[in-house]
Amino acid sequence: MAEIKNTAKTFKLNTGDSIPAIGLGTWQSRPGEVEKAVEAALRAGYRHIDTAFAYGNEKEVGEGIRASGVPREEIFLTTKLDNPWHKRSAEALDLSLANLGTSYVDLYLMHWPSSTDPSDLKKHYPDWDFVDTWREMQKLVGTGKVKNIGVSNFGIKNLERLLNDPSCKIVPAVNQIELHPSNPSPKLVAYCASKGIHASGYSPLGSSDSPLYRNETIASIAKAKNRSVQQVLLLWGIKKGWSVLPKSVNPDRVKANFDLDGWDLTDEEMAKIDAIPDRFKVCGDGWLPVKVFFGDDE
Ligand SMILES: NC(=O)c1ccc[n+]([C@@H]2O[C@H](COP(=O)([O-])OP(=O)(O)OC[C@H]3O[C@@H](n4cnc5c(N)ncnc54)[C@H](OP(=O)(O)O)[C@@H]3O)[C@@H](O)[C@H]2O)c1
Repeated sequence: MAEIKNTAKTFKLNTGDSIPAIGLGTWQSRPGEVEKAVEAALRAGYRHIDTAFAYGNEKEVGEGIRASGVPREEIFLTTKLDNPWHKRSAEALDLSLANLGTSYVDLYLMHWPSSTDPSDLKKHYPDWDFVDTWREMQKLVGTGKVKNIGVSNFGIKNLERLLNDPSCKIVPAVNQIELHPSNPSPKLVAYCASKGIHASGYSPLGSSDSPLYRNETIASIAKAKNRSVQQVLLLWGIKKGWSVLPKSVNPDRVKANFDLDGWDLTDEEMAKIDAIPDRFKVCGDGWLPVKVFFGDDE
């Protein structure tokens, strides 16, 4: 029987491009450590890196890519438009490209549906919102600087508004959202699928100090398979149909998180994880000047 190659899996986007199922996350990965993590990831076989202008590490992510020796065109690179830059997306993209030291990104995401006033981060622009931002982001396609555009942290309500606006000519290729067994968001994932939007799962391990690492159901499945809890969480996400973006700055963990070939989760194991009742969210909207979650993202 052919070996199961979970790490080679990709998902087709509505543009025809493919997004690798596993990407290295880089939130809270500081300059000075993120270069090594990116390099270790690419050397281990990852071909997808997720960063953002707001993470303050694009420059070092670019350095890690170059240090790996992996050709740029083999890598699916994502970065994100920061909230205070919504009125200046073309300029923000140029800044990100200069930071990363590349001429294009594979995916440019609107990080949050919040058009924050840069002169006062507690304020939302009165005359501009994410629909206006998307109208401008659509112009970036065709410049050669972005292969795909998408959104992040959009629930159903905001997606409906965006897709129903006459200015929306391009359906987002991706909605990057929080996805793990304690925030599996079945309605939002199904909604995205119905519109041809790929759901990409952030905080797939439950983020820093994850309560999922203490979950008995996941621990017992991991033990029975001689695998780590993290590996089980990642394979569960991929098998649910979304790409996963595990973050680590520890090169051994980066490698271990990619050790997903040659084994599988049974339907029964998937069902047991699906049935975990505990709920938590890593990312809320309390820090934003506008509410973006309406309970339709869970
Ligand atoms: N679009 C958005 O708004 C948004 C929001 C949140 C996240 N994201 C993206 O999604 C990525 C992942 O989410 P996340 O960073 O919140 O968390 P995560 O990937 O769910 O979890 C990361 C945490 O798990 C630890 N870890 C990783 N592998 C491990 C292993 N094998 N054993 C033990 N601990 C391990 C990491 O510590 P070490 O680093 O010390 O290993 C870190 O504390 C982000 O980095 C970012 O790229 C996007």
